[in-house]
Amino acid sequence: MASRIETSSNHLKVLGRFELTDVRRFTAALHILTARQGHEAVVLDFSDVGGAYLGPMAAVCVEILMLRSRPVRPVNARLVLPTQPRLATLFRNSNWAHLIDPDNHRSSTYKGYVNLPLIRFQNPQEQKKVVDQLVDAILCSMPVMDRLDVAAIEWALNEVTDNVLVHARSPIGGLVQMSTFKTTRRVEFVVADGGAGIPSTMREGHPEIGEDIRALEQAVREGVTRDPKVGQGNGLYGTLEVARASEGTMHIYSCKARLDYENHELRLTREDVPFRGTVLTASLDSSNAAALGEALKFGDRKWIPLDYVETRFESDTSDALIFRLGQEAESFGSRVAGEPVRTKLANIIQMNLGRRVIVDLEGVPLISSSFADEVFGKLFVALGPLRFGQVLDIRGVSATVRSLIDKAIVQRSGSKDA
Ligand SMILES: Nc1ncnc2c1ncn2[C@@H]1O[C@H](COP(=O)(O)OP(=O)(O)OP(=O)(O)O)[C@@H](O)[C@H]1O
Ligand SMILES: [Mg+2]
Repeated sequence: MASRIETSSNHLKVLGRFELTDVRRFTAALHILTARQGHEAVVLDFSDVGGAYLGPMAAVCVEILMLRSRPVRPVNARLVLPTQPRLATLFRNSNWAHLIDPDNHRSSTYKGYVNLPLIRFQNPQEQKKVVDQLVDAILCSMPVMDRLDVAAIEWALNEVTDNVLVHARSPIGGLVQMSTFKTTRRVEFVVADGGAGIPSTMREGHPEIGEDIRALEQAVREGVTRDPKVGQGNGLYGTLEVARASEGTMHIYSCKARLDYENHELRLTREDVPFRGTVLTASLDSSNAAALGEALKFGDRKWIPLDYVETRFESDTSDALIFRLGQEAESFGSRVAGEPVRTKLANIIQMNLGRRVIVDLEGVPLISSSFADEVFGKLFVALGPLRFGQVLDIRGVSATVRSLIDKAIVQRSGSKDA
């Protein structure tokens, strides 16, 4: 059931599950408090919220950042966290709490790879950094990914975040967040901005385009761009193709229009309440190996990506890939730190079948036995002794670390869990 939104004085309360379809009611209510009633301090009360999701929360954070940073009569928001502890933690870890109410909530320190925080980017360097971080999280948390699938998700993340910088003119830049779901093999992401909105920028190049839903419909077509000197019109089209190929979903809210792709259907809806900027959410299913990669065919030319894996792990001097353990782990002391490293290493190995992977332990002084087992012991059992020896070349390892790895492998392969 959708949420209920109640206001009294400068207090705005959200009750129930807060979904994307509730966002326009939320922003309309906030507009009444700030623009019509003139409140410069508002309380956003999520104490009775029953569920909160990436898309709508990114839209809320954009709205608050826009209100706080406007030059005239800036608005401050105080956040009341959900009373459900699980949701309160989600608000803190996702960085929603900090973005809404930085005076009372510190920036998220969450280091995991499953629900990443909502991250702001304002220039191409920050955009590249955040996209790399998201791809890294996919490799660390989703076992057995196909290289083209990862490249297709990376491509879509790049395109949608690039659009914010190239087209949106958003005073606060963009916000992006991603979650991965290992068991259902899904990746969900949202990209939001507080800019001009897709229909407005489309109209700059196509004044004849008509109402907002027509502009949105055109924007996702192949080759349609506001300005052929700036773009080729591939970004939104390709992202929708990736969503289609993966049997996923995609939603765009912008100005007075909304686009929903779900259950194999594309629907456009006219909305009365204008939406500031653009929010795009996508849920991509990677359970059909390489289906996503297949989607990226423009014209009759299949696109071959230069992807994160290539730029991060490939070496100029040899055909082998280089996995620098010192750069890939948060610490070397626990299973928790080891699991994402093993998942990523296994992904790199299986994405590049036939190529050797040099695991370089240069600068890694010591690893714990549990880390050694989690990474090397379990990988040895998963690959089998012959393949482990053929594929991996462990270098730069001290005598102590070597004996720890050997011991972990011997124990793991002899254990009944092997
Ligand atoms: N975040 C955004 N804010 C405002 N307008 C946008 C945004 N994203 C897309 N648009 C509009 O939608 C149009 C289509 O976007 P799309 O990504 O498909 O193509 P492009 O960016 O023009 O070209 P390419 O992606 O090939 O570089 C853009 O030309 C622009 O007018
Ligand atoms: Mg684009």
